[in-house]
Amino acid sequence: FQPKVLAGRRVLITAGPTFEAIDPVRGITNHSSGKMGFAVARAAAEAGAEVTLVAGPVHLPTPLGVRRIDVCSAQQMHDAVLPQAPTHDVFVATAAVADWRPSQFNEQKIKKDGKKVAPTFELAENPDILAAVARLPAQTRPWCVGFAAESHDLVRHAREKLQRKGVPLIVGNLGPATFGRDDNTLLLVDAAGERELPHGDKLSLARDLVREIASRITRFPT
Ligand code: C5P
Repeated sequence: FQPKVLAGRRVLITAGPTFEAIDPVRGITNHSSGKMGFAVARAAAEAGAEVTLVAGPVHLPTPLGVRRIDVCSAQQMHDAVLPQAPTHDVFVATAAVADWRPSQFNEQKIKKDGKKVAPTFELAENPDILAAVARLPAQTRPWCVGFAAESHDLVRHAREKLQRKGVPLIVGNLGPATFGRDDNTLLLVDAAGERELPHGDKLSLARDLVREIASRITRFPT
């Protein structure tokens, strides 16, 4: 039994990778199983929240009671999230969004030309979904939580991300390298300092994170 610390709240979550198509058979993507985001969705629903989960391509069942919207590319994720954001109290961005997409989609499969010349691709920058939500006017802006997956200098990068994205809380992955694993250690970084959520499975961590979020938003009216 989980205490209903998010009763009456609406929580919007992004999860999984995005996939940026090059042609009908290929694309650019990021490593992400979606497990952390799906665990946060489950934990938020258990805590009494109404949950909307915007998921990139993953192989995971929808947690009980969660409304799920499936997307593929970063642009689609952005276009699904932005209109939903103003009707939610909390936004948790766990998705591993591809930073770039191919500037052009080739309608037909790109073929080897037989001359051993590899194709080159021009890339365009994808929208930053978390930063876009954090820039919404104060009355319509949910309380935003970002994630940071860094290979080094986690605290410095997480602090820099707090500033750059304009969000009140960044959750850093302290590892071990988490892709596809069921366990992790998380570090919460906010204006007040840093706090480690001890190593555990992703569902326990998600429940801890939900409690931390709930305690931080109690100042906000339902
Ligand atoms: O900028 P960076 O990718 O390091 O930041 C990670 C955080 O920002 C994560 O919470 C991720 O879900 C979010 N993000 C996003 N849209 C992007 C890139 C990252 O929402 N295009």
